Amino acid sequence: MEEEQPLKIYFIPFLAAGHMIPHCDIARLFASRGHHVTIITTPANSQIIRNSIPHHPNFAVHTVHFPSQEVGLPDGLESLSTVTDMVNLYKVYQATTMLRDPIEDFVGNHPPDCIVGDFMFPWVDDLANKLRIPRFAFNGFCLFTLCAIESLKAHPIPLDASPPFLLHGLPHPVTLKTAPPTNIKEVLDAMIEIELRSNGLIVNNFAELDGEEYIQYYERTTGHKAWHLGPACLLHRTVEEKAQRGQKSVLSAHKCMSWLDSKKQNSVVYICFGSLCYFPDNQLYEIACAVEASGCEFVWVVPEKKGKENEEEEEKQKWLPKGFEERNSKKGMIIRGWAPQVLILEHPAVGAFVTHCGWNSTVEAVSAGVPMITWPVHGEQFYNEKLVSDVRGIGVEVGADEWGTVGFGEREKLVGREDIERALRRLMDGGDEAQEIRGRTKEFGKKARVAVQEGGSSYNNLTALIDELKRLRCCKTTP
Ligand SMILES: *[C@@H]1O[C@H](CO)[C@@H](O)[C@H](O)[C@H]1NC(C)=O
Ligand SMILES: *[C@@H]1O[C@H](CO)[C@@H](O)[C@H](O)[C@H]1NC(C)=O
Repeated sequence: MEEEQPLKIYFIPFLAAGHMIPHCDIARLFASRGHHVTIITTPANSQIIRNSIPHHPNFAVHTVHFPSQEVGLPDGLESLSTVTDMVNLYKVYQATTMLRDPIEDFVGNHPPDCIVGDFMFPWVDDLANKLRIPRFAFNGFCLFTLCAIESLKAHPIPLDASPPFLLHGLPHPVTLKTAPPTNIKEVLDAMIEIELRSNGLIVNNFAELDGEEYIQYYERTTGHKAWHLGPACLLHRTVEEKAQRGQKSVLSAHKCMSWLDSKKQNSVVYICFGSLCYFPDNQLYEIACAVEASGCEFVWVVPEKKGKENEEEEEKQKWLPKGFEERNSKKGMIIRGWAPQVLILEHPAVGAFVTHCGWNSTVEAVSAGVPMITWPVHGEQFYNEKLVSDVRGIGVEVGADEWGTVGFGEREKLVGREDIERALRRLMDGGDEAQEIRGRTKEFGKKARVAVQEGGSSYNNLTALIDELKRLRCCKTTP
C-alpha cells in the first residue's frame, strides 16, 4: 500500500503567553501523529517556544520580522505578556497587525494543507481564502464561553436592566454580576464573526468539561463545528518540561516543590493572576490581609518588580502590611515573577487556587484536580468563572464584579479582605461544601487525563479532525 503523505499544517499563534503556549501544544499533537507542523512567529517568541518545547522532527518554527523599530518598541519586547502599560500594549498590538505581509509572503510561497490561526489575526481568513486552503480557528476560549457570547448576541442585555443579568437560552440558568464593557463586546463579536467563517474551531478543552449540552448549543446556534483537543497542558509529561512551561521560572522548581513537600495535603492556597493581570497595590494589600486572617498556608505569585519588605520603605509597605513576610516566613512563599504553575497545581499539598480564570490557568487547575476561588478581571474571564462555579460546581466566587478592559491599572472597586477571607475559608475549612467541590474537581481531573489518552474524547476528536483535513486536501487536488 502506498504510504500516505503526512499533512503540512501551519500554526499562527497570537503574541501573548496564554495564547501562544496552548496553541503550540495543540500543534505538537499533530506532530505526534506524524504530520508536519510549522509555527509561524517572531524572533523573541520563537526563542520562548524553542526553550519550552522539546525537539521533535516534525515540529518546526518559522520566524518573521517583528517591527520593533517601526512601532517604537525596545528590541525583544514582542508579547502582550511582557507589557504593563497601555502605550506599549497598543504598540505590540499594532505590531501584530503588521505581521500580515511577511506571513502572507511565506505562506504564499510555501502553501500548506491547512492553516490554524489565532482569532486575534482575523486576516488569516482572507489569506486562506486567497490561497484556497482550509483554515481552522483557535481562540484559547472554552466552548461554554462562546455559547455565553452567542446567547448575549441573540438576547442583548437591555440598557435599563440591572444585575444579575440572565444569559437566555443556555442549558443552565446562568447569570452575570456585571455586563461586558461595550468595547470588549464589540471587538470580540467582530472577531468571532470572522472565526465562524473558518472550517471549524479548535478548543483547548475536553468535551466532558464543556459538556455535550454546550457542544450541541454551539453547533445549533452557529452552524459551526468545534473540535475539543485539550487540555493541552497535559501534554507536558516530564518534570523539566512542566517546570519550563512558558517563561523561565524565577525560582527553581525544586525549591518550590521541596517547600510544598513539607506541607500537609490540601493545606496550601496557590494565588496567581496569570501573565496579563496586575493588581494595584491596595488590592494586593487586601489579599495579604485576607490570607493572614484565614490562617492558610500559601504560595503567592506577584509581579517581578514587587520589592522586598525591607528595602525602600515607601515603595513596598503599600502592598504588604508591615512585617508580613517575617510573620509568614514559615507559612507562605511569595514568588516574584513567573512560577512553575503546572508543577505547583499538581502538588498534593495545594488545596485551592485563587485565579483570574484565564482559560489557560483554569484548564490547568481542572487537569490537576484543584478547586478554584474565581476572581475574574478582564477579557472573557467572567464567562469562564460561570462554567467553574455555577455550571460545574468546581469552585467558589470571590465576588469580583468589575469587568475591566485590560488586566492592569487602577480599578474602581476593590475586592475587600472579608470577601477574600470568606472564599478562602469556604474551600479550605474542610467542611461538607468544600469536600463536595473538591470531589467534583478531582473527578474532572481524572476525566481530563482519560480524554487525552488513546481512545479518550480528545484523542478521538483529533483523529476525526485529521480525517477531515485529509478529506479537504483530497477535495482540493481532485475537484
Ligand atoms: C498559563 O498561565 C499561567 C499563569 O496564569 C502560567 O503560569 C502558565 O505557565 C501559563 N501557561 C501557558 C502555557 O502560558
Ligand atoms: C468530540 O468528542 C465528543 C465526546 O466524545 C463528541 O461528542 C463530539 O462529537 C466530538 N467532536 C467531533 C467534532 O468529532
